[in-house]
Amino acid sequence: MKKLWGGRFQKTAEEWVDDFGASIHFDKQLVEEDIEGSLAHVTMLGKCGILTNEETEQIKAGLQTLLEKAKKNELKFSVQYEDIHLNIEKQLIDLIGPVGGKLHTGRSRNDQVATDVHLYLRNQVTEILDAIKSLQSALVKQAEQHVETIIPGYTHLQRAQPVSFAHHLLAYFWMLERDYQRMQESYKRINISPLGAGALAGTTFPIDREYAAKTLGFDSVYNNSLDAVSDRDYILEFLSNSSILMMHLSRFCEELILWSSSEFNFVEIDDTFATGSSIMPQKKNPDMAELIRGKTGRVYGALFGLLTVMKGTPLAYNKDFQEDKEGMFDVVKTVKGSLQIFAGMIDTLKVKTEVLEKTVKADFSNATELADYLATKGMPFREAHEVVGKLVLTCIQKGIYLLGLTIDEYKQASELFEEDIYEVLQPKTVVARRNSLGGTGFEQVNIALNKAKEALGN
Ligand code: ARG
Repeated sequence: MKKLWGGRFQKTAEEWVDDFGASIHFDKQLVEEDIEGSLAHVTMLGKCGILTNEETEQIKAGLQTLLEKAKKNELKFSVQYEDIHLNIEKQLIDLIGPVGGKLHTGRSRNDQVATDVHLYLRNQVTEILDAIKSLQSALVKQAEQHVETIIPGYTHLQRAQPVSFAHHLLAYFWMLERDYQRMQESYKRINISPLGAGALAGTTFPIDREYAAKTLGFDSVYNNSLDAVSDRDYILEFLSNSSILMMHLSRFCEELILWSSSEFNFVEIDDTFATGSSIMPQKKNPDMAELIRGKTGRVYGALFGLLTVMKGTPLAYNKDFQEDKEGMFDVVKTVKGSLQIFAGMIDTLKVKTEVLEKTVKADFSNATELADYLATKGMPFREAHEVVGKLVLTCIQKGIYLLGLTIDEYKQASELFEEDIYEVLQPKTVVARRNSLGGTGFEQVNIALNKAKEALGN
């Protein structure tokens, strides 16, 4: 079968080789972007007098017909035409005759594919930004309910100091806020037009790149034609931003998984996001949290895959670059899905406040408070640390906690202790007093909640 580029070839193509080289299997996802790019290109060709008005109108009408069909999923693609660009060109020619062959004047598939992907990512990043905001809103909603719910705060996964549950949730809010900002910031490198760079060197036709760019809503054009067709930084940046985002989600997943185990028993994940076991009737597994944690792997994989594809490639376009798309499509789907599921999981999360109330009383996470107490009364902190350390040891030996020691036992350890320590050691007091800026004190958490809402624009 003759190829659209078959002029200089003596042998006809072999189907099994075509199949390996083709990208239509996956770049058919770019069909709408491809046609939109072509519409802008042909409009520009007409405006610059490179095509006649009649030719321009004929091609535009043909492309519109194809776009409508594409939206209804009615276009059929074939491996024989390699990729989305040649498939559309072929269908255009079939539809309107040889004049369709004029569409490709002054452009190449190299600037065309880059244009398609810029348009695609621009749309997807906009959707992902919305999805991040929805998850952030779910976090704020839960946080508002739990300013005064206290959970153990950990370092080294050992109980450290009690914190407000809202404070813990808001830590993720701010991670996501950075993810949002990174995605948003990358938009300006996505929203640039490579169209008109030609195969690599520009074109002899008197085209108007800026006009075509404006028609497509791009903010600017690439300054260098070689760079325009071989830049994949903006995809790498998207994959990298997505990797950091997924890393955040995976950390939160891990906590939800731990918290919903009977060992922790802090929360219950809604039935919608859990599954049972085919053999163990008692099981309720936090599958969705595990799956999101797991999916982080394929997102990192796409980033490392493309970094490796790009490494050492000479200017300008290389067929290697066709490998940029499958990972990207997969990451878009994974990130959107993960954010959506996560928002649902947070929205419906049941926090076991009664269990938490008991939990935070049954540990030594108020020990720092006691050392601070002595230090406030003049004892050097290092000495206070030692005194409290010994009291903790006494408690461990007796099988009790700090609130269980008598005032005599306290006085024996240091004359500085007075009756008010029993109030000071209450988890609520411990949390409330950490009122430094950005700390877990209730007052600070309320301030932070307002800042979070402000960031969300409510
Ligand atoms: N399918 C190709 C890709 O995805 C389009 C560009 C092809 N250009 C070329 N010179 N073979 O990269």
